[in-house]
Amino acid sequence: MHPILPPFPQTRLRRMRRTPALRDLAQEHRLSVKDLIWPIFITDVPGADIEVSSMPGVVRRTLDGALRAAEEAAELGIPAICLFPYTDPALKTETCEEAWNPDNLSNRVIRAIKARVPEVAIMTDIALDPYNANGHDGLVKDGVILNDETVECLVKMALAQADAGADILGPSDMMDGRIGAMRAALEAAGHTDVTILSYAAKYASAFYGPFRDAVGASGALKGDKKTYQMNPANADEALRLVARDLSEGADMVMVKPGMPYLDICRRVKDAFGVPTFAYQVSGEYAMIAGAARNGWVNGPQVMMESLLAFKRAGCDGVLTYFAPDAARALRAG
Ligand code: PBG
Repeated sequence: MHPILPPFPQTRLRRMRRTPALRDLAQEHRLSVKDLIWPIFITDVPGADIEVSSMPGVVRRTLDGALRAAEEAAELGIPAICLFPYTDPALKTETCEEAWNPDNLSNRVIRAIKARVPEVAIMTDIALDPYNANGHDGLVKDGVILNDETVECLVKMALAQADAGADILGPSDMMDGRIGAMRAALEAAGHTDVTILSYAAKYASAFYGPFRDAVGASGALKGDKKTYQMNPANADEALRLVARDLSEGADMVMVKPGMPYLDICRRVKDAFGVPTFAYQVSGEYAMIAGAARNGWVNGPQVMMESLLAFKRAGCDGVLTYFAPDAARALRAG
């Protein structure tokens, strides 16, 4: 792998960096618009379709706005969008039944987009937090997250989303046993071709802060998610989680957050060679977009450099709020 280099001056590594043409030829990794999944926030709460204050440039969209985003994705060549609902607080309960309501906001938006822009793949989020009065991804009893009861809810949620026409289900809840349960239920219901992109290695991260503002979960969340999301100090455990989710029927896996966990992306790709995605999460977006807005960094350049890093780390693609901006930058060349 590593050739012995002849000494200077036979070897001058700068030779290959002299011109743009030579640099292009020697370039190892490239970002393509086809690597992007665009997460969007949707809402039907009057007045909530505004910019998320902690995510400059990111807005919540009504159904019409979501349709326009899907059309924009199609026009730009972005293969997939991912929906995250900002739920009316009046619909949040401790039992979370709105999560599997066939006519909830997400499922209505899935149907509308599939009818209008069928070529754009729709990814969903499977977790109870947008519907949970206490902001957690699972059911809570006496301060404890109930794993197996939550999995039953997640299965109902997965079936409702598959019925609505979702192409990619994204379980982000980190309960044990959910992938196998969902896969079995999908097969039994005839949804044999619905794919699962498991949030397999999802860390308990402070980088999710702006997202929780965007979906309106910040105020509701009591405590933290450390009994189900991973300890940021662990790496081998990520490989066990990925192995487990693949063995239960996941088609693709995700590492989340992205930039602080590129070592995990590389290890997952090397160990399993499966479709591997990273989520450049809301806090990562906020740092770049916020610094750019203040003129502290060159926003477009930092955006593209940060996205290329995922390719270098072995990812097949990346979920990023920058997707349309990055697509336009790639188109401009
Ligand atoms: C919830 C979920 C979260 C994100 C995606 N799905 C937040 C959390 O786990 O608290 C975070 C995405 C982001 O920060 O951009 N299940």
